[in-house]
This record gives sequence, C-alpha cells and structure tokens, in this order.
Amino acid sequence: MTCRLWWASPDDASPALLDLLDAGERERRERFRAPADRDRYLVAHALARLALAREAGCAPEQVTFTLHCRACRRRPDPRPEPHGKPRPAGPAAGLEISISHSGDRVLLALAHGTPVGADVEKVAPDRDTEGLVDYCLRPRERRDLDRVPAPQRAEGFFGYWARKEALLKATGDGISGGLATVGVSGPFDPAAVVEWDSPAAPEDVRLTDLDAGPGYRAAVAALCPGPLDTRICDTADLLGTRRTVG
Ligand SMILES: CC(C)(COP(=O)(O)OP(=O)(O)OC[C@H]1O[C@@H](n2cnc3c(N)ncnc32)[C@H](O)[C@@H]1OP(=O)(O)O)[C@@H](O)C(=O)NCCC(=O)NCCS
Ligand SMILES: [Zn+2]
Repeated sequence: MTCRLWWASPDDASPALLDLLDAGERERRERFRAPADRDRYLVAHALARLALAREAGCAPEQVTFTLHCRACRRRPDPRPEPHGKPRPAGPAAGLEISISHSGDRVLLALAHGTPVGADVEKVAPDRDTEGLVDYCLRPRERRDLDRVPAPQRAEGFFGYWARKEALLKATGDGISGGLATVGVSGPFDPAAVVEWDSPAAPEDVRLTDLDAGPGYRAAVAALCPGPLDTRICDTADLLGTRRTVG
C-alpha cells in the first residue's frame, strides 16, 4: 500500500488557513497558550482538510472527523469528551490519516482504507530521558541504546519513541496503549517491529523511518500485510491552493 506524506512547518500558518478549521478546531487552537503550538495545530489541521478534500473530490469545508480512542474503549472509566485518532467522515470517509507535530515540523500521513500512524519527534539532547527510558523501552532496547555512543544516544531514544508512537497511533491506542508493550529494532538499524506484547497487537503491521532532517526523528506505521511505500507530496502546492482561493 502507498502512504502519502506531507511535511509542513508552523511558519506556514496564515490567516487564510483559519477559515479551514471548524468551530471545534478553532476553539481548541485558541486554548493553546503558546503561539507556536497554535501554529502547529492550525497548519496540521488545515493540511489534513486540504489533502482529504483533494483526495475525496470535495470542498475542504465538507470534510469532517470523528475521534476514536482505542485505549478508552478498553477502560472502565473512559475520558468523557471525544478524543483520540481522527477518522475522516463525510465525503472523505474511507480515507485514513495521522497527524503529528513537534518543533518546526508538521507531518500528515494519508492512506486509502489502511490505518496509518505517523510521528515526528524533535530530538531534545538536554532533556533528562532517564525516567522516560523505563516507561518507553523494553530491556533489550535499553541495552541496545546503552551501546550507542553518548553523542547519538538522545537521537536513538527519540528514534525509538517516534517508531513506537507511530505504531500506537496506527492502532488508535495512542501512548495510553503502552510504549513498552511494543519492541522495535535498534534505533540506527532498519525499522522493524520485533515483538508486541499486548492482546491489542495488530496481526499485520509495517513500520518505516522517515527522514525528518537533522535534529528530528520520525516514523510511519501502517496496519497492512504487504509492503509500505511512502511518497512525499508537495505541501506548497496544497497550501497554495488556499492562498489563491482564500
Ligand atoms: C495523543 C498522542 C498520540 C499525541 O502525541 P504527541 O507526540 O504529543 O503529539 P503528536 O503531534 O505526535 O500527535 C498529535 C495528534 O495525534 C492524533 N491522536 C490523538 N490521539 C490519538 C490516538 N489515540 N491514536 C492516533 N492518533 C491520535 C491527533 O490527531 C493529534 O493531533 P491534534 O492534537 O492536532 O488533533 C499522545 O500524546 C497520547 O496518546 N496521549 C494520550 C494520553 C492521554 O491523554 N490519555 C487520556 C486519554 S486515553
Ligand atoms: Zn482515551
């Protein structure tokens, strides 16, 4: 299957894009205090609507979403308000997307009929990841990370994180599904799922790293048995349609 990808930046934010958001999205955007968070959110959601509209052959305003948290489906006390993986509805029903934003990167993945999960992480070398290591990594992964030369260790850690989160976003569990339930290959080896210790583990899954540029790690996962092809699409072309229309 083919997963199409769009890379964007919070700098792509513009007032014209605001018209693409629905009332709920606008309200959510307003709740972010930091302008950078608002811009990341705006660009990601505008991009998603434009890509879905083009794919479905409808107007961006006609694209709607329902939210599904798979982790909450298994919980006795699910969070009351809708949250989780956005599933396109209306004319875009049947398409699958995943949204991720971190630092200067916004990432959108889109596929036909196959659930996908994408994640980009800014490598934060100064962040104290020691506590997170236990939460995120399996013992074998931790041993592999310890063997990575110190200057690359932070990148290795966020490489693990991006892969695992991409997998858990593909299933719709999010990190509530447990980052340590899934084991992946060494952070500088080709991406692969090695083990998945959960009754919620999917039968078929594909995983690949993405080149997100220096200082970032990114990955995309798809719940399919066959090969996963990724195709980078033209973001300027997509956002440009809005500049002329809007
Ligand atoms: C939501 C979560 C996947 C986001 O990860 P992140 O690295 O902080 O942020 P990213 O930018 O990579 O991803 C955010 C996007 O993931 C998507 N998303 C949210 N929940 C998701 C889920 N369960 N499955 C797949 N995608 C999900 C949304 O589109 C979101 O974008 P938006 O906030 O712009 O709408 C992750 O933080 C998480 O699972 N949190 C759950 C913790 C929680 O709130 N638990 C209580 C409810 S179970
Ligand atoms: Zn939930």
